[in-house]
Amino acid sequence: MSKRLEGRLALVTGASRGIGRAVSLALAAEGADIIAIARPRSQAALESLDDEIRALGRSCTLVPFDLKDHDAIDRLGGSVYERWGKLDIFVGNAGILGPLSPLGHIPPKEFQELLDINVTANYRFIRSLDPLLKASDAGRSIIVSSGSNGKDKAYWGGYMMSKAAVENLALTYANECKQTQVRSNVVNPGPIRTMMRAKAVPGEDESALPAPEDIAKLFVELALPECDRNGEVISFYNWAGLSR
Ligand SMILES: NC(=O)c1ccc[n+]([C@@H]2O[C@H](COP(=O)([O-])OP(=O)(O)OC[C@H]3O[C@@H](n4cnc5c(N)ncnc54)[C@H](OP(=O)(O)O)[C@@H]3O)[C@@H](O)[C@H]2O)c1
Repeated sequence: MSKRLEGRLALVTGASRGIGRAVSLALAAEGADIIAIARPRSQAALESLDDEIRALGRSCTLVPFDLKDHDAIDRLGGSVYERWGKLDIFVGNAGILGPLSPLGHIPPKEFQELLDINVTANYRFIRSLDPLLKASDAGRSIIVSSGSNGKDKAYWGGYMMSKAAVENLALTYANECKQTQVRSNVVNPGPIRTMMRAKAVPGEDESALPAPEDIAKLFVELALPECDRNGEVISFYNWAGLSR
C-alpha cells in the first residue's frame, strides 16, 4: 500500500527538536521529503534528523539559518522553486517563548524578537511560499499557535501577542485561498513535553504530558491532500480527546 504522503515535499521550521522534529519524522514516515530548518547552532541535531529521515527512505534537505534573517526566507523560496517548482506542505512551527513577565518589564529587544521569529518570519514564509503552494495540486499550510487558556493571560503578554497575530495571519491566508487548492489551518498544541514547555512551567511533572510524537499525527492529517479543512484553529487536546 502506498504511503499517504508519498513523494510530497514539506518544509518544516523548528525541526531541530520538540514538535517540529517529531512532525518532520511523522511526515517522512508517511512518504514526504523534508526541508528542515533551525539555527546553525543546532547543526548536529539537524544532522541526526537527516540520518533518521534517510533511514525512512526519504530525502532531507537541511537549511540552517536564523529566522530573524527574513531575506533568507525569500532566498529559500527561490531555491525551492528552482529545484522543485512547488511545495506541498508548509509547517510554520518554530517559535520562542520570550520573557514571562509583566508587559512593562519586557525589554524592547526581546519584544521585537517575539515579533521577528513568531510573527514576521511566518508572514515572510507565506509571502515567499504562496506561489509554490499554489503550484502544488493540494498545498497545505499549518501554522502553530498557542493559548487555549486565553490570549490575555497575565505575564504571558509578549508570547500571546505573537501567537494571536500569527493565528490571524494564518486564518486570513485561509480566506484568501478559499478558491484555490491551498488549505491553511492553525494548530493549538496545549501543553506538550518539550524544552519550551519545561522552560515555561519548570518543575511540572512532564511524564503526564503528551509527547511531540502524539501531536505529530494531527499535522499528518492536516497535510493530506484529501484533508479539506480550511481556516480552522484546531486544538490538539480536543482532537485527541484529552482533558487538561
Ligand atoms: N510545547 C508546548 O507545550 C507548546 C504549547 C503551545 C504552543 N507551542 C508552540 O509549538 C511550537 C514548537 O514548540 P516546542 O515546544 O517544540 O519548542 P522547542 O522545543 O523550544 O523548539 C523550538 C524550535 O524552534 C526553533 N527556533 C527557535 N528560534 C528560532 C530562530 N530564531 N530561527 C530558527 N529556528 C528557531 C528551534 O530551533 P533551534 O535549534 O535553532 O533553537 C526549535 O527547533 C512553537 O511555536 C511553540 O510556541 C508549544
